[in-house]
Amino acid sequence: MEKQPTLATGRLLLRSFNLADARAVQQLCGDYAVAATTLLPHPYPDGLAEAWITSLCEGIERGDAAAFAVTLAGEGTLIGGVRLRIDPDHARGELGFWVAKHYWGRGYATEAVRAAIEYGFSVLGLHRVHAMHFSRNPASGRVMGKCGMVHEGRFRGHIRKWGVYEDVDLWGILRDPVSQPGMHTFSPL
Ligand SMILES: CC(C)(COP(=O)(O)OP(=O)(O)OC[C@H]1O[C@@H](n2cnc3c(N)ncnc32)[C@H](O)[C@@H]1OP(=O)(O)O)[C@@H](O)C(=O)NCCC(=O)NCCS
Repeated sequence: MEKQPTLATGRLLLRSFNLADARAVQQLCGDYAVAATTLLPHPYPDGLAEAWITSLCEGIERGDAAAFAVTLAGEGTLIGGVRLRIDPDHARGELGFWVAKHYWGRGYATEAVRAAIEYGFSVLGLHRVHAMHFSRNPASGRVMGKCGMVHEGRFRGHIRKWGVYEDVDLWGILRDPVSQPGMHTFSPL
């Protein structure tokens, strides 16, 4: 994944995933609390983490993905992930993110998502970043709002999660508001 820099924020290092992360990814994403508000399966099957990391690498190579392992600066512990699924035709990226439950409520998702948005605009040249979350998951919407995203609407019954049709909320941000001076949230290493 040499195509991507490592991003340093105040408390985090956002680096590329590699196959050595698979065991930790399986353990952290295998938590019911993380699976319940994402499209992840539960229980998390053997081999999925390896396949997911491999697909991220392929996406980065093709130029239709950016993906970072969220790690604690200093100790290097993997605590989450953030990725952009890129549509180059429209210069837009769809954000997805998760943080291990043990680390919730400390502002880590906000810090990582801010950096990913800025990376999308300033390095990838995106025009728009958007993201969706289950309407019953307000913490995710709060992260998006704190990162400058605007609530754009609610899609009723948009996703069938474990047999239940669920409402999802859509948030988005355009390039201009964050490309102002003084808005830098990371430094490339
Ligand atoms: C959503 C998630 C990423 C948040 O991670 P986090 O590191 O705890 O997020 P932060 O600490 O940066 O911010 C969370 C914010 O949500 C708020 N929050 C938490 N629970 C909330 C609730 N039930 N209602 C409203 N706000 C809530 C927190 O108070 C905080 O806001 P504040 O800084 O104004 O106090 C994390 O819970 C997670 O990974 N969940 C499972 C996967 C997931 O849902 N991913 C998002 C898919 S779109």
